[in-house]
Amino acid sequence: MKTRKVGIIGVGHVGSHCALAMILQGACDELTLVDIDKQKAKSQAIDCMDTISFLPHRTIIKDGEIDDLTDMDIIVISVGNLTADKNRLNELKGSIEMVKSFVPQIVKNGFKGIFVVITNPVDIVTYYVQKLSGFPHNRVIGTGTGLDSARLRKVLSQTTNVDPRSIQAFMLGEHGDSQVANFSTGTINCKPILDYLKENEDTIGKLDLDQLEHKVAQGAWDIYAGKNCTEYGIGCTCSDLVQNIFHNERRVIACSAYLQGEYDYEGIYIGVPAIIGKDGLETIIELPLDERERTKFKKSCEIMSSYIEMAKN
Ligand code: LAC
Repeated sequence: MKTRKVGIIGVGHVGSHCALAMILQGACDELTLVDIDKQKAKSQAIDCMDTISFLPHRTIIKDGEIDDLTDMDIIVISVGNLTADKNRLNELKGSIEMVKSFVPQIVKNGFKGIFVVITNPVDIVTYYVQKLSGFPHNRVIGTGTGLDSARLRKVLSQTTNVDPRSIQAFMLGEHGDSQVANFSTGTINCKPILDYLKENEDTIGKLDLDQLEHKVAQGAWDIYAGKNCTEYGIGCTCSDLVQNIFHNERRVIACSAYLQGEYDYEGIYIGVPAIIGKDGLETIIELPLDERERTKFKKSCEIMSSYIEMAKN
């Protein structure tokens, strides 16, 4: 039986909660935590080890160095921090410098697994991790709008009192301000929910899609206001993606994927629904977009394109 091994680079608020979520959910068998602050990596590992006696699954947890990650199946990249200016795109320069300092070394060491990128601005950083690694696009995946889609379902659940797990809706586009909501899929098509909201406008207020998308996109900053970070939601977003890979679930989840003509765009990573399995990203799902969604999604793609170009200079 193959041991499912995950390495996490950057174990601050986000990386350490990716580790905790994976441990609590039994997502992998072995976790190696790496951080530029070696004592932090060691302390996070020891703290994580203290949970195992209380959990149904045993995970072997270690702290280590970049060179210890060669035989990992998945490497999570969660370096960097959200900044108070509420614009992830401003983290781009620093994030690119950080991934440049270790991705080539990991590839040179012979890593043959899958990169899962969280570091913001995640769509652009995922693009650069793929470029730096030379890996096929299916083995470099960003968490993208996976967390935003969960936030959309949370907001709709709060309004309709329907379990968010039954609300199949996605945020598409940038993991940031230009993302757009789509309700056209799922086991419980969202149309009845949207009809319910429309019928009850007088009691629960008019559903304004621009307002809804803004509320979702602001989700991180509402959390940041009280704790200068986000951690629980992104930790579970990462763990969900990792489990999808290890169990070859082939579930459709929103993530940052490389467009090669899907949605009439190419050459960028951006948040779209995709089938994820043992080999990473298997297929991008092209949802039917209405005129408003198509226009907003294209705008989001253009913003990502412009930042990719900017980072080249
Ligand atoms: C957030 C961070 C992970 O949206 O970008 O919470």
